[in-house]
Amino acid sequence: MIQFPKDFLWGSSTSGVQSEGYVAQDGKGESNWDYWFKKEPYKFHQGIGPQKASTFYENYVEDIEFLEKTGHTAFRTSIQWSRLMPNGVGEVNQQAVVFYRDMFKRIIDKNIKLIVNLYHFDIPYALQKNGGWENKETVYAYAEYAKECFALFGDLVDTWITFNEPYVPVECGYLYQYHYPCKVDAKAAVQVAYNTQLASALAIKHCHEQHAHHRISIVLNLTPAYPRSQHPEDVKAAHIAELFQARSFLDPSVKGEYPQELIDILKEHQLMPEYTQDELRVIKENTVDFLGVNYYQPLRVAAPKYAPHPNSPFFPEHYYDHYVMPGRKMNPHRGWEIYERGIYDIAMNIKNNYGNIDWILTENGMGVEGEEKYCVDGIIQDDYRIDFFKGHLIELHRAIQDGANCQGYLVWTFIDCWSWLNAYKNRYGLVSLDLQTQQKTIKKSGYWFKELSQNNGF
Ligand code: BG6
Repeated sequence: MIQFPKDFLWGSSTSGVQSEGYVAQDGKGESNWDYWFKKEPYKFHQGIGPQKASTFYENYVEDIEFLEKTGHTAFRTSIQWSRLMPNGVGEVNQQAVVFYRDMFKRIIDKNIKLIVNLYHFDIPYALQKNGGWENKETVYAYAEYAKECFALFGDLVDTWITFNEPYVPVECGYLYQYHYPCKVDAKAAVQVAYNTQLASALAIKHCHEQHAHHRISIVLNLTPAYPRSQHPEDVKAAHIAELFQARSFLDPSVKGEYPQELIDILKEHQLMPEYTQDELRVIKENTVDFLGVNYYQPLRVAAPKYAPHPNSPFFPEHYYDHYVMPGRKMNPHRGWEIYERGIYDIAMNIKNNYGNIDWILTENGMGVEGEEKYCVDGIIQDDYRIDFFKGHLIELHRAIQDGANCQGYLVWTFIDCWSWLNAYKNRYGLVSLDLQTQQKTIKKSGYWFKELSQNNGF
């Protein structure tokens, strides 16, 4: 029996965009995702956008019952900024206030620890139109939005997240064209990353000023970078990959400072963002109270085979190649490697290099296509998912035994939901969603998760 510490949290994470959906006259404004889908629907998997998601906005009362039935003691979701403040600034949508307050209240009434994220890849289009995160005005608009959230919901919510995986919109939106605005512009990417970090620090500041006892964090995908070999050039490649992928947000969020080596690389390529000493002070003085960590797959890299063409736009990959490890274990549906040991390595990195700060594993999960074929008597027999969870929990438990300060395990996700790049192709839920009927049914993993939570181990 693997036993977790007393009061260890068991639950799941979702996001507003991926679960809520929207209906006519709900007062929601357009987000970057709504706008992009309207403009270029062919860029979305099977031409499906976030209109319906898993209809949580309409059905949250019944859906919340499933939290209990699957043994949740914690739940993380996000507020859609464009739902609360349709124009990004100014007027607040009162219907959104009613929805979020009632939803939050029902969750805490069930004694479930509620963690509320302010930003999960979605910005009101009104702000995106004016440059989005490239524009410093967005930083101050976000700070006002955060203040509004702390004021409107601070009596119900005491645990907050400023941003989910802020590196993703940076790389997907400004380097690799997977997210709107689909730019290839490293200079903009760096400014977006810096502005996001500043916004996170400002939200932390306001949170602590408004509610001294509240705790606030950022959620990062702290993928360890594993070198192909111990050859010094491979090791160097992994070191630099980690500077970009993990430490660009981890260091300023926990230590209040950027790694000097990262600054040196940015200077060398004339990529430094516009910043002021006052802003750096805000970042320095407002670090997180704890960390959220999402983990799906490791990052494996090797020294670059070729020198970049002198006219090629800058990419972090100028310093490393992606490396496919022979014999790796794969989730073929998502195309992601499964490497349970990554959790242990993340935990030891936090313990040894980041003051052993408290943290929660805020996402871990397995997206599988065509799960209907595993359905027996109406229940999806997702043993592969249970094995996936067990494998990762063994490593997490080992890390806790070795002194890691992890306080909970949240899976991705609660009910099968819409995904940014894959719509409903890969299902992650503890509860299945029938897209035609909207019927929701607990999977075998959902029942297993309840036992896991009740036994505080397995
Ligand atoms: C995480 C995100 O990175 O991965 C989620 O926070 C996302 O929003 C999840 O859905 C799974 O990735 P995907 O692309 O399969 O939906």
